[in-house]
Amino acid sequence: MVVIYPGSFDPVTYGHLDIIDRCSKKFDKIVVSVLNNKSKKNLFTIEERVKLLEKVLEKYDNVEVDTFSGLLVDYAKEKNCTTMIRGLRAVSDFEYEMQMALVNKKLEEEIETFFMVARGKYAYLSSSIVKEVAMFGGNISCFVPEIVEIALKEKIKEV
Ligand code: PNS
Repeated sequence: MVVIYPGSFDPVTYGHLDIIDRCSKKFDKIVVSVLNNKSKKNLFTIEERVKLLEKVLEKYDNVEVDTFSGLLVDYAKEKNCTTMIRGLRAVSDFEYEMQMALVNKKLEEEIETFFMVARGKYAYLSSSIVKEVAMFGGNISCFVPEIVEIALKEKIKEV
């Protein structure tokens, strides 16, 4: 079974990586799909986000990194894949995730969203929080892999 794990990944964190690692053992193939949304203000470009993901995921034979723009359901159709994976960290994620899953189902009946419950130790973790801690010079080594940490520090110098 092939599944799509869509997201912004700006940047990828240990929370994302834990979901991908666990999915890699349950599904035949995971397509990690990075949203290329020009109107959304991301810190990293689409190319940078993809490159970081490719590097940190290179050990997996059954994980592919891809990009998409527009509606997720249209992309899913293109990919011939009807199962989406989303991580749930806390109850606060639930409302938005539920809304997204229901909208996607309304747009495309075939689409199913599978929720993976985040490991307790990553329940607080988000790309936004990592960027905020990094901006103020905090230690982010327990939140992201080293290459992401280096890229984030470089990026912060630029902005
Ligand atoms: O990592 P994120 O930012 O929580 O990921 C959100 C994402 C990319 C999965 C979501 O915004 C998305 O699927 N966007 C594509 C546009 C779309 O299909 N919207 C309708 C469903 S809400």
